[in-house]
Amino acid sequence: MDKFHIRGGRPLYGRVSVSGAKNAALPCMAAALLTAETVTLHNVPYVRDCMTLRRLLEDLGATVLTPELRTHKISAAHVEVLEAPYELVKTMRASVLVLGPLVARFGRARVSLPGGCAIGTRPIDLHLEGLKKLGADVSLEAGYVVARAPQSGRLRGAEIEFSKVTVTGTENLMMAATLAHGRTVLRNAAREPEVVDLAELLNRMGARVRGAGTDTIEIEGVESLTGAEHTIIPDRIETGTFLIAAAITRGELEVKNCRPEHLAAVIDKLRAVGVEVEEINQSTLCVSGKDRAFVARDVVTEPYPCFPTDMQAQYMALMTQAEGTARITETIFENRFMHAAEMMRMGAQIEIEGHTAIVHGPTPLMGAHVQASDLRASASLVLAGLAAEGETLIDRVYHIDRGYEKIEDKLRAVGAAIERIR
Ligand code: UD1
Repeated sequence: MDKFHIRGGRPLYGRVSVSGAKNAALPCMAAALLTAETVTLHNVPYVRDCMTLRRLLEDLGATVLTPELRTHKISAAHVEVLEAPYELVKTMRASVLVLGPLVARFGRARVSLPGGCAIGTRPIDLHLEGLKKLGADVSLEAGYVVARAPQSGRLRGAEIEFSKVTVTGTENLMMAATLAHGRTVLRNAAREPEVVDLAELLNRMGARVRGAGTDTIEIEGVESLTGAEHTIIPDRIETGTFLIAAAITRGELEVKNCRPEHLAAVIDKLRAVGVEVEEINQSTLCVSGKDRAFVARDVVTEPYPCFPTDMQAQYMALMTQAEGTARITETIFENRFMHAAEMMRMGAQIEIEGHTAIVHGPTPLMGAHVQASDLRASASLVLAGLAAEGETLIDRVYHIDRGYEKIEDKLRAVGAAIERIR
């Protein structure tokens, strides 16, 4: 298993470019199942989760051509299998995103239940409840969800109110509803930019989706969808990670190809901490942590547009370097503080009280041998390693490869001493 070796204490300087958003690319790739025509996606990040979904689409019978590394031409003209097997779903929960499109277009699908994962139980009950409202018959068979459209073969539009905001749940049902008979309204829908990106693609394919980006999404079902071409939005979590990388190393970075408007809550919080963040234009941010005193600021993770859970671990790394006490409250996922114990092994002073991590800073971090437990936790340990005195060895970096494109190359190019050990 690959490891990262980091020699910390070097400020990062220069320019870094953000890749496409994994969490937008995944639903957009799944949406290609809704049509027999070719869907072309640009700016798909070269990360493992996208490779996993590509493999799943190919296993179903779709063809995926990549004329360029980050362009996927997906044709689901011939789909022979309507099943997402356990082996794939267990490595990537987002595989469940094929459920909605398959039932909508082919009238049935069988998708393995994801089971537990490192950051909590993460059920898919809301996806299933929504599908039932759309008229699907949903049953559980040997660890698999089996969903069937009504006799007519077509789902029917419905009013669905989510009891909790769910990003992939909103995406799954939005896709399912595009081919349903009649009108669907999704209430308390996720407002994440990735949901909006998917809606844009769906509308390019001929769907009639309105309201994406608000908490009420209306979908007027159509008989069929067509091919389309679409460019995936920049990754706001990768952007935020680079902002903190510059701050925590007391360096200065120009972060290009990003969408500052998608991370307003993160930028506001970083400014409150004392990080200098300047919006150069609509796609470039300049961030500096040079000669600045950081002060601890509390944070609560909440659905968009609030502070994202996917930035919580990275923010915790920064708070170890801020003056005072920061309370970091995680409201989205249980069990998402595994990085705290690893940071404490590097010298951080953190207490966990239920859903809140209390970080006392600043404490000098010392390099150590640590273990990554999930995608964002790995990123936070890289950040801690960059800030630490001495050498840090991070085990299990396969987690980071799921969602960050060549992070070590990008960081090395701006002055980090980071190596991958194979
Ligand atoms: C997505 C993102 C992930 C991010 C998360 C929250 C993708 C591929 N992944 O994950 O990076 O951390 O949003 O912003 O886009 N829940 C239920 N029942 C359900 C569905 C969700 O109880 O049927 C709960 C979850 O356990 C969690 C909360 O709702 O507590 C939010 O989860 P959700 O938004 O669904 O996360 P994902 O879509 O899996």
